[in-house]
Amino acid sequence: MRAPWTRPSNVPVPPLSRVTGGKISVINIVAVVLFFGICLTALNVYELRRMQNDHMSLHRDWPAAEGRTDKGVKDRPIAVIRGKRLESGYLNHVFAVFKRIGYERGLPESSWDVMWSHDYPFADPKLTPYLRNMKPHQKVNHWPGSGFITNKMSLATSDIHFIPKAFSLPRKKDELLKHAESNPEKMWVQKNNNHRGIRIRPLDQLDLTGESFVQEYVDKPLLIDGRKFDIGIYTVVTSIDPLRVYMYEEEVLFRYCPKDYHPFDPNDVDKYVVGDDYTPTWKMPSLKETYNRLQYSHKETWNYYVRSIGKDPSTVWRDVKASLREVVLAKEPQLVDALHSKYKSVRNFFEMVRFDFVIDEDLNIFLMEVNMSPNLSSAHTPPNKGMYEQIIFNLLSLVGVARAIPTSLEGSPEDQNDMVVLDRDIQVYSDVCNSETCRSTTSCTNTICKLCGHCLTPDWRDHLKSAFMEHVSRRNFRRVCPVQITQEEAAHTTALSESDLSEANWLMDYWYRGKCLQDPAWCT
Ligand SMILES: *[C@@H]1O[C@H](CO)[C@@H](O)[C@H](O)[C@H]1NC(C)=O
Repeated sequence: MRAPWTRPSNVPVPPLSRVTGGKISVINIVAVVLFFGICLTALNVYELRRMQNDHMSLHRDWPAAEGRTDKGVKDRPIAVIRGKRLESGYLNHVFAVFKRIGYERGLPESSWDVMWSHDYPFADPKLTPYLRNMKPHQKVNHWPGSGFITNKMSLATSDIHFIPKAFSLPRKKDELLKHAESNPEKMWVQKNNNHRGIRIRPLDQLDLTGESFVQEYVDKPLLIDGRKFDIGIYTVVTSIDPLRVYMYEEEVLFRYCPKDYHPFDPNDVDKYVVGDDYTPTWKMPSLKETYNRLQYSHKETWNYYVRSIGKDPSTVWRDVKASLREVVLAKEPQLVDALHSKYKSVRNFFEMVRFDFVIDEDLNIFLMEVNMSPNLSSAHTPPNKGMYEQIIFNLLSLVGVARAIPTSLEGSPEDQNDMVVLDRDIQVYSDVCNSETCRSTTSCTNTICKLCGHCLTPDWRDHLKSAFMEHVSRRNFRRVCPVQITQEEAAHTTALSESDLSEANWLMDYWYRGKCLQDPAWCT
């Protein structure tokens, strides 16, 4: 057996000269080979130069070697996660999401990108030095003054639609008595800011002397399988002055009472108050088939059920949005004051709260409370893991914390941010901006010209770019403020002088209308 690639030794090798025809041909061949050799060398030298140049430019922008490991690690964004008894695991989904989106865990005194604090951080003197001097890219998951929205007494006693009538005591005692006289059948709920003990009573059993407030009880709640329930709407404030507020559109928290409503007993709160041990959708006889086997969301399961009893669920979602907007607009001035009195930058904050509503038999909605740091733990409801993690991820995406660019949020502002939003992306109303009204620079005091490229202040350029980035990263969140519109509505703007919006909110609204006219995706 011979190896397949070696010539058998008994076959004669023909001399090269005989094959090509003499001495001259040999010289020719040597010349050709030499020529090719020189060409190849030249090519090699050229290639080498080019590679060296490439490497040099790479080296200037992206120092390799020493950077690879060291810088790579330092560049990962850092999240500080704070809360009492973290080891009990109620923030585990928050931890999991931050880890998946490439964050490292840091400490308040290190240089962090994001602080997620379960408790309101601005009252903690240890944190004050870090929160007062934040860099523009740092983000905290609360607004200074957000208590103006979430404080039970302040919310209940503000005159807002969708909130059951309430009276703060002892100040409004006379008004309460007068109101109760003309509504003798009403039951009342007495609450105060510190204790959550909610119990309903007739008026003559209330203690009207101490500091508390008394609120009308919503009777005739809509019952499903005999159970009262509430709904929780995850709502995010990304900016105040101008206001930008979003709600999580895809899913809603439904919590059913652990006991049947009838026969009614005011002493048994499990019949009419929802707590941590609520009954979930997947245990409700009329809902579990749709939820478990057909795999619909909580929200779609509920919508389907409500249609099946001959009612229209869309009115609920319409009213929910109106109510969120009304509350935030009513409280905005106090938030603006709290912010400007202590903080330099208006861009370091975001907050997700949960609005809890009760619904009656006629599908009227009633806002019961707004929760700061809503519970995102699925400890008692493991099937909700996916929902919670999706909400957290969607929130972090909306506010620019979860991004496709896996470096510190500080980055190199210009080219990194341009990649996401260019100056041209935020220009609207080319007809208005090209018109005589807006053309000259002196016309920039005219409100309708303020968003034109030549009038735009650095602050407003930032506001609009943030709004643009939120829109492209909002995932399942949809706008609440400024109000959603249709393209038809976008064409009819109410002038600032006839609108009840502040100038900042009017301009923000006007800008979305301009974007909506360019592309209907911006209408909502
Ligand atoms: C959140 O809810 C879980 C039940 O799912 C409960 O065990 C936990 O104590 C709650 N956490 C907070 C901070 O309220």
